[in-house]
Amino acid sequence: MSKLDKLFARLALLALAVFSSQLAYAQSSQGATQYLGIGRNATPAEVIAWDIDVRPDFKGLPKGSGSVEQGQAIWESKCASCHGVFGESNEIFTPIAGGTTVDDIKTGKVASLADRKQPQRTTLMKVPTVSTLWDYIYRAMPWNAPRSLTPDETYALVAFILSLGEIVPDDFVLSNANIAEVQKKMPNRNGMTRNHGFWSVNGKPDVNGSSCMSNCIKFVQIGSTLLDFARNAHGNIAEQNRLYGPYRGADTTKPPMDKLPGSAGEGLAHAADTHAASTKGPAALFKNENCSACHASNAKLVGPSIADIAAKYKDQNGAQEKLMAKVKNGGSGVWGAIPMPPQPQLSNEDRAILVRWVLTGQ
Ligand code: HEC
Ligand code: HEC
Repeated sequence: MSKLDKLFARLALLALAVFSSQLAYAQSSQGATQYLGIGRNATPAEVIAWDIDVRPDFKGLPKGSGSVEQGQAIWESKCASCHGVFGESNEIFTPIAGGTTVDDIKTGKVASLADRKQPQRTTLMKVPTVSTLWDYIYRAMPWNAPRSLTPDETYALVAFILSLGEIVPDDFVLSNANIAEVQKKMPNRNGMTRNHGFWSVNGKPDVNGSSCMSNCIKFVQIGSTLLDFARNAHGNIAEQNRLYGPYRGADTTKPPMDKLPGSAGEGLAHAADTHAASTKGPAALFKNENCSACHASNAKLVGPSIADIAAKYKDQNGAQEKLMAKVKNGGSGVWGAIPMPPQPQLSNEDRAILVRWVLTGQ
């Protein structure tokens, strides 16, 4: 290289350096200039208040400890009313404990998730990371008083729940110092897919849903079916599930909704029935107008069941008009204190179709 060439090369480098530092500055100040006068940076105290998660690598976990015995006492006073004394209750939510074995603790895969011998998936069957259990309880439980537990109480409760699954012994004291060891015994620790961006801290979540953008329905099928002959094999499912929340058991003493006259095999979006809803007919209208959020074929949801309404107004003169007005204006008191909100969005024609269908199945 000649002397002049060298000089030019140096100048070019210098220019590049100046240019790129300006670029960095422009990028860092872009947020402020682009949205001038809108918002402000969060203060450190605000960030701390939001940053409460406990990661699977235990970053964010407060120090502390608690024994199974202490946990049992807190459980009985603050948790058992909803989850059962042994975390077995299915009334308010699916059971917390049950369905895991000593073998699962060895393999890190819960066998009953695959062999489906367990009627309900319990928390201990599903949760792969003990940090999640800790984090969830600390943030969200007890349901009626979230964020009221101290870290020590939370350690004690997690220890107690783990002892219910025989993951730790009855005299165990769980602490931030030994929780990583406990993680190695979580029954479903190897049961979770980690092959996605959410798992890795540096990973990129699939925000575009590209892994499931086309024809997903062909291979992602969510639902369950109950063969007709097995429908009533375990008694009335509706009476065995919890009484509130969107998912309840179907009344299995009666035939499925799509076998009833009037629904013409179209199926109603009964919360627990999984028959695909079609786009035609009164049954589909009932679903599309969201009536099915509160009314099921033969189980009481927020509102009375269709079967009960039909039975109540059977052979009553003027029922069609009366109920059309009720659907339009809403109201309460006929079936209980819970009101039906007004449904003024419906055309008179649709209202007539829906009420006729509720009353006669036609
Ligand atoms: C008033 C009823 C109620 C009380 C009391 C209660 N829970 Fe819950 N719990 C719930 C409900 C409801 C859910 C499900 C919440 C949801 O999914 O949004 C739940 C969920 C949970 C879960 C997550 C289960 C899963 O698999 O997702 C855990 C763990 C749990 N509770 C632990 C506790 C502990 C520990 C206490 C006592 C400190 C407690 N709960 C007290 C009602 C209650
Ligand atoms: C948010 C819940 C909710 C939705 C949505 C809803 N209902 Fe209701 N419905 C109720 C409740 C609650 C009652 C009982 C009211 C009472 O006790 O008087 C009821 C009662 C009824 C009755 C019987 C009224 C009576 O006086 O006996 C009919 C018919 C009815 N609903 C039809 C419909 C139709 C059709 C739709 C959709 C357009 C619909 N409902 C949407 C909650 C709902």
